[in-house]
Amino acid sequence: MTQKLWDGRFSEQTDRTVEAFTSSIAIDRRLYKHDIQGSIAHCRMLAKAGILTEEEVQQLVGGLEQIQEEIENDRFVFDDRLEDIHMHVESRLAEIVGGVARKLHTARSRNDQVALDARLYTRGQTWQIIHQLHRLRKVLVDVAAANFDTIMPGYTHMQRAQPVLLAHHLMAYYEMFSRDSARFRDALVRIDVNPLGSAALAGTTFPIDRTDTAEQLGFAEVAANSMDAVADRDFMLEFLAAASICMVHFSRLAEELVLWATSEFGFIELPDAFSTGSSIMPQKKNPDVPELIRGKAGRVFGDLVALLTTMKGLPLAYNRDMQEDKGPLFSTVDTLRTCIDITTRMLPQVTFNKDAMRNATTIGFLNATDMADYLVGRGVPFREAHAVVGKAVAYALSQGKELDQLTLEEMQTFSTVIDGALFEALKVEQVVNRRTSQGGTAVAVVKDAVRRAVDRLESESLYQEEQS
Ligand code: ARG
Repeated sequence: MTQKLWDGRFSEQTDRTVEAFTSSIAIDRRLYKHDIQGSIAHCRMLAKAGILTEEEVQQLVGGLEQIQEEIENDRFVFDDRLEDIHMHVESRLAEIVGGVARKLHTARSRNDQVALDARLYTRGQTWQIIHQLHRLRKVLVDVAAANFDTIMPGYTHMQRAQPVLLAHHLMAYYEMFSRDSARFRDALVRIDVNPLGSAALAGTTFPIDRTDTAEQLGFAEVAANSMDAVADRDFMLEFLAAASICMVHFSRLAEELVLWATSEFGFIELPDAFSTGSSIMPQKKNPDVPELIRGKAGRVFGDLVALLTTMKGLPLAYNRDMQEDKGPLFSTVDTLRTCIDITTRMLPQVTFNKDAMRNATTIGFLNATDMADYLVGRGVPFREAHAVVGKAVAYALSQGKELDQLTLEEMQTFSTVIDGALFEALKVEQVVNRRTSQGGTAVAVVKDAVRRAVDRLESESLYQEEQS
């Protein structure tokens, strides 16, 4: 029989299936480092408060460090009868340092302990994700900068609409991932709060110093209410929500890559190293990587909904339901981090078929708006110009031609204000480069956007170095 750390009032052994059912060690063992880090801070604070002696602290810290070393070298025995990582560390500590181990849990409960571990872990992962997103954003900017001369169709309703620079299209994703990064940074404000010292729910009778543990653990703040501190998982929900929105962006980018790699589009060639073949059709090169990224968004949304559902309607304060938080958290961390990493490595290796992209802009009247704008420039009200161009498009369609393939005489049958300059305005480079409005697709504007992104990435990387 395993001696439980809480079995004083129990006269019967725990049912074996109950032990397995209630155990979370298979999942929360991942928190060992944070658990040990939190325990070291806790016992140092207890010494300052006169609750432990210096000698006891040395013994405890030595034992905790040994446990970390054992776990990292696969010499630690995990056993689901010991429930969770907190119990594992504490009972091994008792084996190493003896009776003094029993003093470590003074003025603490597993409720504030697990909240602490989860916050330390989430904080660390959030910073990692911000760093990874930084690299991805840099790659997007680099690929954009290499493609100021690549023009492609821009779409609305999945129909060719107006030509845009590939660089502009890619910079749209830079914006999305920049917002993701900012969302994670914002979530950190609420993640970076010390719950330790809330004990089970009501605080403790011991003269502890929660500011001291906050300082030791690098927390910006101390949680203000002990009941809230042990019952709160908002910080995780925010993290999962930020991750979900980020996965929306990955899935959209992935979908575009899948589409662009089709023979119908032929806009890109995916790197062989990031594609797979078919077991039956020898000619196939499948875009499994972007497909899986697109698919994995479902898992991350599921993690968010799972935790929202677990937390909904829980009375204060800690409830065991909350043990279900870590599975979704870890699953999202793993999924998101892998998606960022693989996209960052894949994007620079994608070959853009510039000719195919440009050719696609010449079919489908992508310059029709520009013909209307040209007429407006000659004093025709926009709605009227719109109707004139509509007629010209219908006529061109009937001739099997594009607008720029009509003759000046044909054009002049639609409006007398038209002259030869129209054909200049219909050229695809003109169409792109006249869109100089803020945030538009003209080369000059996109170059400026890239310059600003480079500066921003630079200043963020300095800030990030200071923080971590
Ligand atoms: N394994 C538990 C969890 O993950 C730790 C807290 C347990 N607290 C308790 N009172 N049983 O939530």
